[in-house]
Amino acid sequence: MQIFYTPKEIQSHLKIFTNKQVGFVPTMGALHEGHLSLIQKSQQENDITIVSIFVNPTQFSPTEDLNKYPRPLENDIRLLKKNNVDILFTPNQDDIYLNGLKNATQLYIPKLSKQFCGQTRRHFFRGILMLVNRLFNIIQAQKAYFGEKDFQQLQLIQKMTHDLFMPIEIIGCPIVRESNGLAMSSRNQYLTPEEKEIASNIYRALKKGQSQFQKGLRSPKELIETIMHVLQNTPDLHIDYLDIVHNNLSLAKSAQKTDRIIFAGFIGKTRLLDNVQLGL
Ligand code: PAF
Repeated sequence: MQIFYTPKEIQSHLKIFTNKQVGFVPTMGALHEGHLSLIQKSQQENDITIVSIFVNPTQFSPTEDLNKYPRPLENDIRLLKKNNVDILFTPNQDDIYLNGLKNATQLYIPKLSKQFCGQTRRHFFRGILMLVNRLFNIIQAQKAYFGEKDFQQLQLIQKMTHDLFMPIEIIGCPIVRESNGLAMSSRNQYLTPEEKEIASNIYRALKKGQSQFQKGLRSPKELIETIMHVLQNTPDLHIDYLDIVHNNLSLAKSAQKTDRIIFAGFIGKTRLLDNVQLGL
């Protein structure tokens, strides 16, 4: 595996791949099975797979966990090599945000950036788009892979590439779960074993909603009540949002097969996301 640290280095190397199909997996490191599933999908569909590791400061607010965010780079490199990744791109902040963060060029999607996660984390999607746009321009891959756990992020990135005629295809990949059902996330390592046990109720509750839908329940309000009923047994879980939405994230009035139950919440200071599609 080759490792590049600056846009200039990787861009001059990428010139040799003019006839190859390149797949790209952007990450913030602290890699887990979820990331590996994106890498495998990219390897199946492309000649070359490039992974980036960059803990993006613009998607954290001053009160969030930027400094605490896990950065096990050596272990990540070992995992990437073991999984036959071709190229790792792991730049510094100054190489991505060329003249500092304050006056950096920004991208913003009005409505979609403000809903759900964007309501609690106002800076979040602006920061993600600032980074992902830069990474796409540097790497120039044909396809990029994102997990469905961050469903709103996936929708925003899809909308950005569509609206800006960006020549890249965005592929959403299914959530990978721990054995107790908890959606894999680099932040799960903040959880104590007891908290992990509490967190496993989230998926249990979402599955309950899904099974009620399959039994014929269509009212979003009643579906949410069923889910809340399971979550009531989870006193240490603070719910940020729990909604039933269409794929474009507008609220469903009557639930359909392709809609999703989307959830965000906190256990202590750890933010957790999850979602399931109603129809199997
Ligand atoms: O999903 C993530 O890990 C990050 O939000 C991303 C897309 C790599 C941007 O920092």
